[in-house]
Amino acid sequence: MTSNIDTHQPLANDPTWWRQAAVYQIYPRSFADANDDGIGDLRGIISRVPYLQGLGIDAVWLSPFYPSALADGGYDVADYRDVDPRIGTLDEFDEMVAALHAAGIRVIVDIVPNHSSDEHVWFQEALAAGPGSPERARYIFRDGLGADGSEPPADWDSMFGGLAWTRVPDGQWYLHLFAKEQPDFNWDNEEVRADFRKTLRFWSDRGVDGFRIDVAHALTKELGDSLPTQAEIDAITEPGAHPLWDRDEVHEIYADWRKVFDEYTPPRIAVAEAWVSTPRRPRYASADGLGQAFNFDLLEADFDAEQFRTIISDNLALSAASGSSTTWVFSNHDVVRHATRYALPARNGSTTKQGRDWLLSGGTEPAADVALGLRRARAATLLMLGLPGSAYLYQGEELGLPEVADIPAAERQDPAFFRNPGVDVGRDGCRVPLPWTREGKSFGFGEGGAHLPQPATFGELSVEAQDGAPGSTLELYRAALALRHELQTDETLEWVPGRADVLHFTRPNGWHVVTNFGPDAVPLPDGEVLLASEPLPGGLLPGSTTAWVRAAV
Ligand code: NOJ
Ligand code: CA
Repeated sequence: MTSNIDTHQPLANDPTWWRQAAVYQIYPRSFADANDDGIGDLRGIISRVPYLQGLGIDAVWLSPFYPSALADGGYDVADYRDVDPRIGTLDEFDEMVAALHAAGIRVIVDIVPNHSSDEHVWFQEALAAGPGSPERARYIFRDGLGADGSEPPADWDSMFGGLAWTRVPDGQWYLHLFAKEQPDFNWDNEEVRADFRKTLRFWSDRGVDGFRIDVAHALTKELGDSLPTQAEIDAITEPGAHPLWDRDEVHEIYADWRKVFDEYTPPRIAVAEAWVSTPRRPRYASADGLGQAFNFDLLEADFDAEQFRTIISDNLALSAASGSSTTWVFSNHDVVRHATRYALPARNGSTTKQGRDWLLSGGTEPAADVALGLRRARAATLLMLGLPGSAYLYQGEELGLPEVADIPAAERQDPAFFRNPGVDVGRDGCRVPLPWTREGKSFGFGEGGAHLPQPATFGELSVEAQDGAPGSTLELYRAALALRHELQTDETLEWVPGRADVLHFTRPNGWHVVTNFGPDAVPLPDGEVLLASEPLPGGLLPGSTTAWVRAAV
């Protein structure tokens, strides 16, 4: 089932390994279930290390596997320094890291510092200790408004819909920017800061190579005695002036973390999930801070040459300014998969929002052109893998998996669904367990079934169905990732001028990447075609296709 190509060198002590790495995101509960209880686990990951090695990735990023009540798919962490018993043990974690390292694959884990689970021992202590206690000072508690304090301290909306404040039995309220089971930490509290340093060291000591920082732009907040209203907050446009998001002080925390990262050899790396405006992003990617930041611009774009060109140019300029490398991503566990987004008509606005609206219609409005969506997704991915910088891939995209739209309400798990009736169906459709085999219960995910229902179409998209099949999406990813190792070069590109609906750039070593976004076939550059996302009839590049060409010397 695995390819025989061994593209990896043994892991070297290279402090720059991350700059142009291909990182594969694993959503552990949906990857592979080794003990047949319907939930993916660490043993499942260990069993698939040969698959990951054959895929040719440089690193994996694991979404949270920590003990959690799963109010938000594990992003409600009850204990930052343990493994959820349903997913495995710390010993199994060590075994997994060793197996991945032996296969030449680095390991990035998710750190969720803005909020814990309400089941975290600190939050339980805060509830028990009462108003004014040091235990409560680790979170953000306030008295309510009105004569009896029964009105919330502010009318703020949470990210998952509903109010961002919840009242506790003694009458006080706590802040949660996400679900009510995710109380926000008070980052002015030194105990909170010390505890996260301890967590970073805990995983670094176990051999973890880096960290993905969840909502990295949230942690510090400017909360005076009298809180602004949501309308007042919404009116703030000045960068850095928002009381809740993207405050300048947050970078003091990351400067502190950098000292921890640098205690290790090679230094641990970090990538910020920071949904901030493009010009504010380099702060998160600074070498004195986290070092790298996600760039979600391509993930929001239509399949459109001009949008792609502008985004690529702007982000390469930004990364040159920050000294970091650029990141690229089309899919993750929070957005509609790109094979499905690109099946919808262009709309020149947020395509992830468009995908959510489409999900709300039950996957019917507008009609999705599934074949075109996959074709464009393959072309877009091959373009991305030719760009300078690091590429983040999401499990299942190498199979061309579509978003699953028809999950019955009774089987949904995402709080975004429960808190936004009729407005948002949530993110379960991209978290459906992977199909490994054509047949069988849960298509080889595990004998215990899948915790989110898989559509019948998953069988033909399974690893088994695509393994060794010429032209399959899996084989395209394998070939592209293997070639990328060979071809990777300096972090620059040059645009080759041409038609408006074609993007063509060269890398310093004569590696040409050309994508035809339009409908009509166009000539290819001179040279040897190394790989293409579709067949090239008549030696031309058809619509919605990318080719890699090595220039004739
Ligand atoms: C971003 C994560 O990617 C998402 O899945 C989660 O719901 C929120 N942060 C809250 O932790
Ligand atoms: Ca399991």
